[in-house]
Amino acid sequence: MCGIIGIASDKSVSSNIINSLKRLEYRGYDSAGLATLNNNLIIEKKCSGRVEQLEKIIFESPVKGNIGIGHVRWATHGIPNTVNAHPHSSEIVSVVHNGIIENSDELKKKLEKEGVKFKSQTDTEVITFLITKALESSDPLDSVFLTLEKLKGSFALGILFKNHNNIIIGARRGSPLAVGYAKNENYLGSDSYALKSMTNKISYLDDGDVCVLNKDHIEFYNQKKTKINKKVLVLSDDARSISKGDYKNFMSKEIFEQPITIKNCMNEYIDKIRNQINLYDFPIQPDKIDKITLIACGTAYHSCLVAKYWFEEVTDLDVEVDIASEFRYRNIKFKKNNLYIFVSQSGETADTAAALELCKQNNAKTCSIVNVVESSIARLSDWVLPIHAGPEIGVASTKAFLGQLLVLYILILKISKIRGDVSEKEIIKKIDDLKKIPDALNQVLKIEDKIQVIAKDFVNAKGTMYLGRGLSYPIALEGALKLKELSYLHAEGYPAGEMKHGPLALIEDGLPVVVLAPNDKYFEKTISNMQEVIARGGKILLITDKHDEVISENLRFKLEIPFINYLLTPFIITVPLQLLAYHVASLKKCDIDKPRNLAKSVTVE
Ligand code: G6P
Repeated sequence: MCGIIGIASDKSVSSNIINSLKRLEYRGYDSAGLATLNNNLIIEKKCSGRVEQLEKIIFESPVKGNIGIGHVRWATHGIPNTVNAHPHSSEIVSVVHNGIIENSDELKKKLEKEGVKFKSQTDTEVITFLITKALESSDPLDSVFLTLEKLKGSFALGILFKNHNNIIIGARRGSPLAVGYAKNENYLGSDSYALKSMTNKISYLDDGDVCVLNKDHIEFYNQKKTKINKKVLVLSDDARSISKGDYKNFMSKEIFEQPITIKNCMNEYIDKIRNQINLYDFPIQPDKIDKITLIACGTAYHSCLVAKYWFEEVTDLDVEVDIASEFRYRNIKFKKNNLYIFVSQSGETADTAAALELCKQNNAKTCSIVNVVESSIARLSDWVLPIHAGPEIGVASTKAFLGQLLVLYILILKISKIRGDVSEKEIIKKIDDLKKIPDALNQVLKIEDKIQVIAKDFVNAKGTMYLGRGLSYPIALEGALKLKELSYLHAEGYPAGEMKHGPLALIEDGLPVVVLAPNDKYFEKTISNMQEVIARGGKILLITDKHDEVISENLRFKLEIPFINYLLTPFIITVPLQLLAYHVASLKKCDIDKPRNLAKSVTVE
């Protein structure tokens, strides 16, 4: 992953580099660094830990220079320490890198034979020394092109040159890279969000592109080194939603924002007066599709699993769900009438983007559901459905998950209507039900104080299990993932009916187990599975929308949630699980917005 920034200006750049790095921390936060050029010298400052730490270092020993690059790291090669932090500099070149150089070992050995002494364990340092060597006989642009030819893997690069003190060169293959324009200042960054506090005028590099920027001008080249022009996009101003407001952290804000997120997204896609779905310009005729494949990673993958159940309930379509990192290497038989749907909050996840690329190479029909409309995945797919959730900063996804569910559900209704799988009357009823979600979410958010009490049971637990059937099975997976991500507690999501085939052996006296048992066709079966867990000493937290007392016996806790219609239960039942993970992590004093070892946007394989 990692985040990179570059600024060429007519004034000192270090504080703006620090500010941009803070915005990039969602991409990695195990170390940080910057380099500037001043008096024809490369000045480098780096540290392990957060950007805050780097800021302190710069405060104590200020760094001058009107041109500079910066980096936040998510370690791939070499532990997160100061030496391995970026930039990686030689006497004359300094480099920041997002991505992985797959042939770095081989390149390193060659360079070592030529006398290069490496300081770090990173793959990035080979880039520094390849450019340094190439500069012996070429200018900066040629030296970068010569180096890129030798690299295998993925990268977004920002490069400073001691003897050419007014330029930064950027290059992109695989990992995202944008540039920004302002008066007497130009920028390079991993995404538009990093640049947004400085400019709203952005261009994106495509794979293979290289750019040369100085404070007044940016030039672009394609991989054949031909000069090209880029479209300048003017971004909307959603800066307000990027503050924490009165919340302790972004995650709690994002959990509590969910009723409004759903309302906003619904306003985009539903004509509430006519009860119609506004999804136009299908580049694909939905009645000519006979199979759907949904592809994603992490939480987005769980939204796809929920969608599979929905598709099967309301259409006759054949539906498959795949994890992107698996899909991209499978021997897929692409079919003309198959639609491939990619779901990604960031729109930059490397595995998802690679799976999409594979579909494009095979002329498959593609659609993406993303939160970031300017993202690589959005730009590459035939058709884009934004989830309109606003920036999500907490690393563990919450409001984007509900947004993904909503867009998937609306898409399914639309496809089922066009195919004639569901009558107009049923669609109207289903849309009416959708409108009830924000109120139901507001109601469920009110049980937070109960969840705070329940969370105490989990703090010292050895582990936990989340069980569900049908639509609640993917939500059990999502609940377990949230708890793992945030509280570092071992948690497994399981189909409740599968417990007897092995996992029941894990149940011992006092083990907390979360059972999701909405009042659907699986209810009695799930309750029987729950009894099997109780009989073996499991301490149950039951979450249900069936509001009667009979099932309360032998339960440690029962949480009642509102009911709208069984298809919509995933929206409601997810929220107590997010709150549970949040409160267990708070009690364990974990870093809620930036869990250890993780990053929000995973741009490496
Ligand atoms: C990372 C994040 C997860 C997210 C996953 C997929 O692992 O920590 O929260 O679900 O990436 O990200 P995407 O942006 O593609 O939805």
